[in-house]
Amino acid sequence: MSSTSSFAAQSATSPLAPHQIDRRDVGPQDVQIAIEYCGVCHTDIHQARNDWGASNYPLVPGHEIIGKVTALGSAIEHLKVGQRVAVGCFVGSCRTCSSCEADLEQYCLNNFTATYNSPSKDPGGFTYGGYSKSIVVDKHFVLTVPDGLDPAGAAPLLCAGITTYSPLRHWDVKPGMTVGIIGLGGLGHMGVKLSHAMGAKTVMITTSKNKAADAMKLGADEVLISTDPIAMQSMTNQFDFLLNTIPVPHDFNQYIPLLKVDGTMCIVGSVGPTAELNTGPLIFGRKSVAGSLVGGIKETQEMLEFCAKHQIVSEIELIKIEEINHAYERMLKSDVKYRFVIDMNSLI
Ligand SMILES: NC(=O)c1ccc[n+]([C@@H]2O[C@H](COP(=O)([O-])OP(=O)(O)OC[C@H]3O[C@@H](n4cnc5c(N)ncnc54)[C@H](OP(=O)(O)O)[C@@H]3O)[C@@H](O)[C@H]2O)c1
Ligand SMILES: [Zn+2]
Ligand SMILES: [Zn+2]
Repeated sequence: MSSTSSFAAQSATSPLAPHQIDRRDVGPQDVQIAIEYCGVCHTDIHQARNDWGASNYPLVPGHEIIGKVTALGSAIEHLKVGQRVAVGCFVGSCRTCSSCEADLEQYCLNNFTATYNSPSKDPGGFTYGGYSKSIVVDKHFVLTVPDGLDPAGAAPLLCAGITTYSPLRHWDVKPGMTVGIIGLGGLGHMGVKLSHAMGAKTVMITTSKNKAADAMKLGADEVLISTDPIAMQSMTNQFDFLLNTIPVPHDFNQYIPLLKVDGTMCIVGSVGPTAELNTGPLIFGRKSVAGSLVGGIKETQEMLEFCAKHQIVSEIELIKIEEINHAYERMLKSDVKYRFVIDMNSLI
């Protein structure tokens, strides 16, 4: 066991503060990583504040991790000490169920182990995430970072990147299609970049008029202001696919008319019950509402290679760990362009 510094929430209402945690010893299959950067996902706020009612404290968030290998288990040959690696949203799964066998560990039928706040045999009884100096992770769940990707900008690819890449791939986004990305935050800005790189006509659908110019710079072909009913009406039946990243319960019905016949809106943001869904427009257009959770390990590695090829990283504001509570407040006001990343050198 080794002690490492972290920042943790001690309760749903307490600010994050320094906290010492223990990491397990490096087993034969394990990779020990010195964390250089960790992205700040809206999920970190949901979990720190117990929005989903399942948080265990102390809670150390962080699942957009970039770092360097500091020690390797005896059974590992494909990595070397000093190599840059990454860890995303989960660090374990059963590896034997039909989902795991299909490289869909995120849908493990026996529950994956999330990078933080999952029951674990590790010291403390729950996993602790990337707002810390080091982490020990089973090699299967460690990604390699292609050369040429800026490491700080690459951190958010591990959640925001894969969470948008996976559904765009699953619904086969390609040239000739029109895709709407709803919500220009951490996920949304990656969605715009990735959809554009996949060749689709990409429309940023936002509540924030002041983000329109940025959306175009990020790769949007058009911007649709969702609070403007006339503009929304003018885009009826235009979209093959909508990716909805809004983090709070909201009325889905306003977006369904935007879909073409056979179109799909995939929800990746808000988790849980929502306003009543009017099934009429679904039936009268064979439309679908779907959901998607991050992406499997194989697909995450593929996404990293895709991003290296297309020179895609996140637009980030690099912060010190002491600024994390203020960063959360700003994220709740949609005031970040477009992902905070913590420089873990700032944690002593
Ligand atoms: N499914 C998954 O696997 C997965 C993975 C990671 C995260 N998530 C979830 O995805 C959500 C988004 O995460 P994020 O990190 O991208 O959050 P974020 O950076 O805070 O961005 C969310 C964006 O949604 C829009 N928005 C916020 N409140 C809204 C409201 N009341 N009505 C309409 N639009 C609103 C805003 O965009 P505009 O200003 O452009 O309107 C905001 O920038 C979170 O709930 C997170 O937990 C899911
Ligand atoms: Zn996340
Ligand atoms: Zn499984």
